[in-house]
Amino acid sequence: MRSLIKRVLSSEVEMADVTVAGWVRTRRDSKAFSFLEINDGTCLANLQVVADAGIPGYEDVERMLTGASVEIRGRLIASPAQGQKWEMQATSVRLIGEVPQDYPLQKKGHSLEFLRGISHLRPRTNLHGAVFRMRSRMAYWIHQFFQERDFTYVHTPIITASDCEGAGEMFRVTTLPDDKIAKDAEDFFNKRAYLTVSGQLEGETFACALSNIYTFGPTFRAENSNTSRHAAEFWMIEPEVAFCDLAGDMDLAEALVKYLVQQTLDKNEGDLAIFEKFVDKELRQRLEFVASRAFERVTYTEAVELLKKSGKTFQYPVEYGLNLQSEHERWLTEEYFKKPTTVFNYPKEIKPFYMRLNDDGKTVTAMDVLVPGIGEIVGGSQREERLDVLLANMVHHNLSPEDYWWYVDLRRYGSVPHAGFGLGFERMLMFATGMANIRDVIPFARTPGTCEF
Ligand code: 4AD
Ligand code: MG
Repeated sequence: MRSLIKRVLSSEVEMADVTVAGWVRTRRDSKAFSFLEINDGTCLANLQVVADAGIPGYEDVERMLTGASVEIRGRLIASPAQGQKWEMQATSVRLIGEVPQDYPLQKKGHSLEFLRGISHLRPRTNLHGAVFRMRSRMAYWIHQFFQERDFTYVHTPIITASDCEGAGEMFRVTTLPDDKIAKDAEDFFNKRAYLTVSGQLEGETFACALSNIYTFGPTFRAENSNTSRHAAEFWMIEPEVAFCDLAGDMDLAEALVKYLVQQTLDKNEGDLAIFEKFVDKELRQRLEFVASRAFERVTYTEAVELLKKSGKTFQYPVEYGLNLQSEHERWLTEEYFKKPTTVFNYPKEIKPFYMRLNDDGKTVTAMDVLVPGIGEIVGGSQREERLDVLLANMVHHNLSPEDYWWYVDLRRYGSVPHAGFGLGFERMLMFATGMANIRDVIPFARTPGTCEF
């Protein structure tokens, strides 16, 4: 049976007979033996193998080039070399898959941009191996956070007929031939359908039955933003809590972000080291800072005042009633408060129909959690639970209540105050790894103009 290199390297004792398999990272030959560094992607570290000339399979050693796949059998022994506990003394080696000289990952130090062009091979690099192991762990921690708190995981649909955010940035799903493309009634669902931008509306129906729920799945936005923080396909975590107001919502969002940061510090299994070394020297320091301190909280109105008084020249204008741009969000967190900041109570005009109207009649109970280096990582709100106010809001947003009859019904039958938010999974991952571009934390990124792989 083959052993995973991660398991082998964390062994407490020497092992007389172990078999590993992986890809050759480097090889050095001398007359009497060869050194091979093998990596199988289960951890950052390589296993060093010493293969003496003459062991079975040694005749193929010179074809064990960087990138070739091999199987090694041998003894795990304490390593005399510095910086590693174990090495393997091979008793046999086997070349499984050869690699030609044009293998693109020959040497280290490729640019991230180059690696995006070979997204099918980049998981074999140290950096992307670490990123995607972190992504897997982070997903697990998210489930752990909610499951430990008695939240029920709900699978909301990916194909939907409603535009949750009302921004009209949806990918259409259709089986109509080109010449009938506008005939919605003849389409597969007898109406126009899209890929979902958010599972929130369906999530709300489940919160109004199971109290505390969360969704965690892919969402899609056809927004033409070619930035380092936007993808057309990304994953979102959307909890929804019944009998909860905006303050409770902010508490939960901040607790989740902090929890994920703390887990990253405690359970990264050595992968954080490579982000610190090659991506962001201050990463650990920043994560420790975030884990140990309360987030700042400020109303939108206060934030606009601070931005106006900042004396900074921004590319986009700062005015009450306009959206905060990422440069504004970053100024608040990086330069002014110097920590994650939750901005709440936004003007109703710039927010979707479902947010609860405040008593001032001007603002809604929206909140965004902003973090240094990225800007918005969470967007959420308390939902409008009052039937009459919701209906008025829908009319105001040019939505027809008949299309959302099931959503409106929640306000008819035992309506409750409830609140929730969406955490962008990739943005959280960017924050935890220091990676600056969303394309580098998604296995196969979909962005405007790019749908390769
Ligand atoms: O602020 P958003 O649009 O909120 C919603 O979709 C609500 N329905 C959530 C809710 O209340 N249940 O998106 C939530 C988060 C953002 O804060 C951001 O982190 C991420 O999703 N996000 C994106 N991430 C990557 N690429 C994009 N194009 C994103 N758009 C939003
Ligand atoms: Mg938002």
